[in-house]
Amino acid sequence: MSVKEPDLAGPAARNLEKPLNVQLSNWAVAYIKLHHCHWFVKGPEFQSLHAKFEELYDWAAEKLDELAERMLAIGLRPASTLKEYMSLAEIRESGDPSESATKMLEGAASDFGTMAKGLKAAAETAERNGDSATADVLNGQIEELEKQIWMLKATLSK
Ligand SMILES: [Fe+2]
Repeated sequence: MSVKEPDLAGPAARNLEKPLNVQLSNWAVAYIKLHHCHWFVKGPEFQSLHAKFEELYDWAAEKLDELAERMLAIGLRPASTLKEYMSLAEIRESGDPSESATKMLEGAASDFGTMAKGLKAAAETAERNGDSATADVLNGQIEELEKQIWMLKATLSK
């Protein structure tokens, strides 16, 4: 016996599926990329940066899950494979283990800026749909990204 899944997403919500999956993919790539930084960061600030990148990838995992579960709650299908994440993400991995700590911090700040910008556009679409609950989730993520960008830039300033 097959049970048809209820179609919770109206036509308005459907226009969010792709943009939200792009943002979800950004979180997934950020999660791995921040592990790369945690593992390969070098220099006199090793201890604090190693710990900071761990804090950031734990946070990225939380945001990934938050966004995917919000999508499920409004009847959308969150992307759930690395293949999808790699094809949809706007941010790119560096994969270079010899990258300097400064480059890693600058890269994270730049990625977070890209992610905040994409989330902002998605939040505007959600608002136009009358879905302010989804917009609230997205705006909350933007606020957290902006705080991290500020802290990364403060770490980088001489
Ligand atoms: Fe670790």
